[in-house]
Amino acid sequence: MKHPFKKVSVIGLGYIGLPTAAILATHGVEVVGVDVNKHAIDTINQGKIHIVEPDLDAMVHSAVMSGMLKAVLKPEKAEAFIIAVPTPFKEGHKPDLSYIEAAAKSIAPVLEPGNLIILESTSPVGTTEKLADWLPKIDLDIAYCPERVLPGHILREIVGNDRVVGGLTPKSAERAKQLYQIFVKGECLTTDARTAEMTKLTENSFRDVNIAFANELSMICDELNINVWELIRLANRHPRVNILQPGPGVGGHCIAVDPWFIVDSAPNVSRLIKTAREVNDSKPHYVLAQVKEKLKKMKNPKVACLGLSFKADIDDIRESPALEIVEHLAKEKVDLLVVEPHLETLPKTLQLPHVKMTSIDEAMQSADLIVLLVNHRKFSHIDRSLLRAIPIIDTRGVFA
Ligand SMILES: NC(=O)c1ccc[n+]([C@@H]2O[C@H](COP(=O)([O-])OP(=O)(O)OC[C@H]3O[C@@H](n4cnc5c(N)ncnc54)[C@H](O)[C@@H]3O)[C@@H](O)[C@H]2O)c1
Repeated sequence: MKHPFKKVSVIGLGYIGLPTAAILATHGVEVVGVDVNKHAIDTINQGKIHIVEPDLDAMVHSAVMSGMLKAVLKPEKAEAFIIAVPTPFKEGHKPDLSYIEAAAKSIAPVLEPGNLIILESTSPVGTTEKLADWLPKIDLDIAYCPERVLPGHILREIVGNDRVVGGLTPKSAERAKQLYQIFVKGECLTTDARTAEMTKLTENSFRDVNIAFANELSMICDELNINVWELIRLANRHPRVNILQPGPGVGGHCIAVDPWFIVDSAPNVSRLIKTAREVNDSKPHYVLAQVKEKLKKMKNPKVACLGLSFKADIDDIRESPALEIVEHLAKEKVDLLVVEPHLETLPKTLQLPHVKMTSIDEAMQSADLIVLLVNHRKFSHIDRSLLRAIPIIDTRGVFA
């Protein structure tokens, strides 16, 4: 395939950077992946991967073996640079741009006039302009292109999803679009960098606000003695209503983080987005209070906690409200039976004498209270007759 980019560098070889590097390398581009993590570099150069993502190992293996992908610690010259480093928040929900600044400063010495620099990290509005300030004052094309892939389906979505490509100038946007068109089958829609930055934050805030509505409904329904699952099922029969499902909170490192970037940038006018974050962040405490209320009436109870991950059928526990709830109970010395079919061992914070990882069957046999925290498919097969005698707090409506 003919395209104008012979050599591209990807800075940050994690869940986003590594698939991007591998897919470019399998489309005839020479790719230099850069990371500060030596273990990641060594693993990739052996044709293996250090993260979990279906089918990525085979793609990285073939890209490395064909000589089109290599990983290095120190940046080298290329025609285009894609930055995919973390953007967490720090104290007071303030965005932490230090990784982007460090990445920019690390590539600065190898940049040449005419290079294209694309920022992919989820970023507050105005970050691409800041990136330009951290780069040398030579003729560079600078653009922002957010990543919207779903972990577990990255290789399919990185190709099929539409891309929003925002340039600091229309020419930067066009050049970045040309680069993505090497492997993207979805549409590449160009705009300015600020709109592209806001697009990604808007998508995740939209989800967060809608989940907050469902979570608030669940608490209202508890007070009014209404089954929230039935309520939502009935309300969703209206042709223009589509309420999401409540849960024990919102986790992961995107939806629970990105809305704060909007709140931080425009605090006086993002009241709904901030309140949604607060509602979702308060939900684990609400569930904990429900559990403690039930435990008051029990002597030396054993509590079965079903699920630790931040959503169903995955092993990712980052920012997981389920984990937060179980950690709190563990700190209060409650005897816990933890069932998490997607993990082999308990996270370090739960490796305590009174916390035991166990099978669904064992938990059902000895628990005095069941707290369902994640709607893993495996939990929906639990024999309902076993549940009749045990009190349940079902935060996901699996047994509803
Ligand atoms: N993972 C997702 O599902 C997802 C989806 C959409 C957007 N994003 C966004 O993409 C960005 C990257 O996320 P991720 O999940 O790939 O993170 P990650 O933690 O998996 O990977 C980031 C990589 O960057 C490396 N790194 C940090 N500083 C560096 C530097 N100065 N130079 C070179 N490498 C450096 C780290 O060692 C790590 O390997 C974030 O902004 C995230 O919000 C992630």
